[in-house]
Amino acid sequence: MRYSGSEWALSNVDLDIAEGEFVSIVGPSGCGKSTLLKLISGLELPSAGHVAVRGRRVDRPLSGIGFMFQRDALLPWATVAENIEVGLECGGYPKSQFDSRIDELLGLTGLQRFRNAFPRQLSGGMRQRVALARILAYAPDIYLMDEPFGALDAQTKVVMGQELMTIWSRAAHKSVVFVTHDIEEAVSLSDRVVVMGGRPGRIRTEYRIDLERPRDAREVRRQPRFHRYVDAIWNDIMSENLGGGAEPAASAVMGTH
Ligand SMILES: Nc1ncnc2c1ncn2[C@@H]1O[C@H](COP(=O)(O)OP(=O)(O)OP(=O)(O)O)[C@@H](O)[C@H]1O
Ligand SMILES: [Mg+2]
Repeated sequence: MRYSGSEWALSNVDLDIAEGEFVSIVGPSGCGKSTLLKLISGLELPSAGHVAVRGRRVDRPLSGIGFMFQRDALLPWATVAENIEVGLECGGYPKSQFDSRIDELLGLTGLQRFRNAFPRQLSGGMRQRVALARILAYAPDIYLMDEPFGALDAQTKVVMGQELMTIWSRAAHKSVVFVTHDIEEAVSLSDRVVVMGGRPGRIRTEYRIDLERPRDAREVRRQPRFHRYVDAIWNDIMSENLGGGAEPAASAVMGTH
């Protein structure tokens, strides 16, 4: 992928995501994570190569995909409830149940008191929670989430991650591609963590996360295996930052287990 007039943002990216899989993408700033999500969604089209979703080549923005942008894209003139309603409308939810579903989603995201507030009256983390409620309202087949919890405090992040896992595990065949800078978050949530490197953006290593499900977001963080994954991925990213591109031999071996 090459944006006009610039160097390759992504090159030689080959990634298969299974139906129902939860995949996280980590990697240094500027390595092309957001670009990759935009390519999957059809918001950007590749300058070379192709993207296919369920066997169909992506040549325009797809429906059935929920995109949670790195910067929240709430409607500034609409209240919290109205922003969530957009998700319900897009998802074809019956109108008669809008109110009760909005209540449920406000409860889930801890926003009950802000039902009639406008985005400008909310903190960054609260706006992210509205965006999360909206994507859950939409209930797409594929969730593309670009640092969805980046503005949340550490505790809320773990709680939201747990909610997302619960919702994802209840709904069969929903795939999630989740971009994050938080390695622990990536390991705790995912079936697979993809480590990207930069210049041009590419996939360095993939780690299959062999931790039992259902997972408890806090309990899983106590397992030695969890920390081995986190360490390996951490070292992998650090070696990219320091050395620029040396292949991470030890962690690649771990990634195959
Ligand atoms: N619309 C655009 N036009 C030109 N170049 C772009 C555009 N969007 C992204 N890029 C370039 O593509 C590369 C990858 O950007 P991208 O936003 O995908 O990175 P990222 O991995 O999501 O970074 P971050 O972690 O900071 O969000 C960067 O070099 C960036 O400057
Ligand atoms: Mg990004």
